[in-house]
Amino acid sequence: MKVISTEAEWKPIWATLFKEGKQLGFVPTMGALHQGHLDLVAKSTSSMDYTVVSIFVNPTQFNSSEDFAKYPQTLEADLALLEAAGADFVWVPTVATMYPKPTSLRLDFGDLDQVLEGKFRPGHFHGVGLVVSKLFHFIQPSRAFFGQKDLQQVAVIKRLVQDLSFNLSIEVVPTRREKDGLAMSSRNMRLNPEERQQALLLYSQLSRAKERLLAAEPWSQILADTQAAFSTAANIELEYIALVHPETFEIFDAFTQDSAQSLCIAAYVGPVRLIDNLPIIP
Ligand code: PAJ
Repeated sequence: MKVISTEAEWKPIWATLFKEGKQLGFVPTMGALHQGHLDLVAKSTSSMDYTVVSIFVNPTQFNSSEDFAKYPQTLEADLALLEAAGADFVWVPTVATMYPKPTSLRLDFGDLDQVLEGKFRPGHFHGVGLVVSKLFHFIQPSRAFFGQKDLQQVAVIKRLVQDLSFNLSIEVVPTRREKDGLAMSSRNMRLNPEERQQALLLYSQLSRAKERLLAAEPWSQILADTQAAFSTAANIELEYIALVHPETFEIFDAFTQDSAQSLCIAAYVGPVRLIDNLPIIP
């Protein structure tokens, strides 16, 4: 496994692989790797000739300076995990490599920026779109792998690829959970044992809401009960729970068998913001 930090190091390697007609898989990450990330790497190594993983805590996608400052960084452990997982190249750029000058371009994803993560984290998808565009340009993969855990990010990336005509395909990998259901996330490392227990409410409420939707209970009642369950729970604050179309993020006010629908949730557990989602009808 080779660690790369500049475009100059990568260009000749890419040129050789391209000449040999090799298919390059790419897994962008912000590090603090867990099994969810490694599932993406495994998808790539099993289907592509070579796998590139990037580790870059991207400053432009954080709308809270505290969240950025406290984002876990575990580079040595990450590199060991990636070596064991069979990654071929790891891109670890510096901020100066990714952003040599302040950027003036602003990316706006239309409707996707108006709801849920777009609404509650203003500018977040601009930063994601910007860094992923740059990484796609630098690395030039044939396929890139993203997790369903960040459902709205997947919709944003698909729109980015379509609107900017990136010559690559996107593959989506299911959410990896802990045994008790909590969606794996780098931010889980910031939870103390008590918060780790409290965080289970996200998945348990999502699962309960899904069961009740499938049992034809009205969404308005489920929503009210979910909000009540959060308001009585200690140290946890619900930001949103919504029933949406998993690609357009149109918000539904009722369950329907006629359309794909997913439940999305975001909540603060102590100071840590967590998100999760469950498909109702995939
Ligand atoms: P990060 O949060 O590190 O996630 C990197 C990739 O791993 C994303 O595609 C994410 O959806 C996926 N992932 C995270 N947790 C997962 C889980 N439990 N199961 C399956 N996949 C999971 O998402 C980002 O970084 C950044 O926004 C990035 C795309 C790298 C741009 O900076």
